[in-house]
Amino acid sequence: MSSEKYVPALRFKWLTSLYDFIVRITMPEKKIKTRLVETAGISAGQKILDFGCGTGTLTIMAKQASPDANITGIDIDVEILNKATQKASEKKIDILLIEYDGKKLPFQSNHFNRVISCLVFHHLNTETKKKILAELHRTIISNGELYIADFGRSKSWVQRKLFNIIRVLDGFKPTEANAKGILPDFIQEAGFIYVSIIERFKTIFGEVQLLKATKQ
Ligand SMILES: C[S@@+](CC[C@H](N)C(=O)[O-])C[C@H]1O[C@@H](n2cnc3c(N)ncnc32)[C@H](O)[C@@H]1O
Repeated sequence: MSSEKYVPALRFKWLTSLYDFIVRITMPEKKIKTRLVETAGISAGQKILDFGCGTGTLTIMAKQASPDANITGIDIDVEILNKATQKASEKKIDILLIEYDGKKLPFQSNHFNRVISCLVFHHLNTETKKKILAELHRTIISNGELYIADFGRSKSWVQRKLFNIIRVLDGFKPTEANAKGILPDFIQEAGFIYVSIIERFKTIFGEVQLLKATKQ
């Protein structure tokens, strides 16, 4: 059971059961997650973590793209993880899904080849973002890579204004660093190198950016 406060997938717990449907019809979900999995270049035998896996859509896509990789999804919300477990079992997908308390990640240091994460960091306040990035840095192997898709500061005025919808829904505090475009700075401060925005996706809720970083 989580002892930390967190922002549920669609802000209110009662909306969790509708998460997949709402994201599918409102966001270019498939495009973003497909690119995330493609760019992560997951290969056989690699250990992959999907941080904030939610209903497991990305976790399952990663396993389907590379069936011989070891894929783990982790989330703070047991209810959404139950949905992920149900989806994986219906599709007969062999992935490990873990609930944690939002504090220390339950993995040894230098363990994962890749960490992937989609639409999670705008749910975390600045202190939690930094704490989790430090934890992700600890658990990734040397030369391992981090791929994060999340809202960022767009060059487009319209996209910046649209992001206010998410800011109202998910809260101004957790979305602050995303709106300011300083998530890449936090990733660098956590010890990662070669931090870059490798792709941008315009959405009706603002710009989602695909970030890549490497652990030295
Ligand atoms: C918008 S959903 C995204 C879910 C999934 N990654 C996807 O792309 O469909 C945000 C997820 O972040 C999770 N989350 C929020 N705070 C978290 C934390 N501190 N640690 C891990 N997961 C967290 C929520 O439970 C939720 O599943």
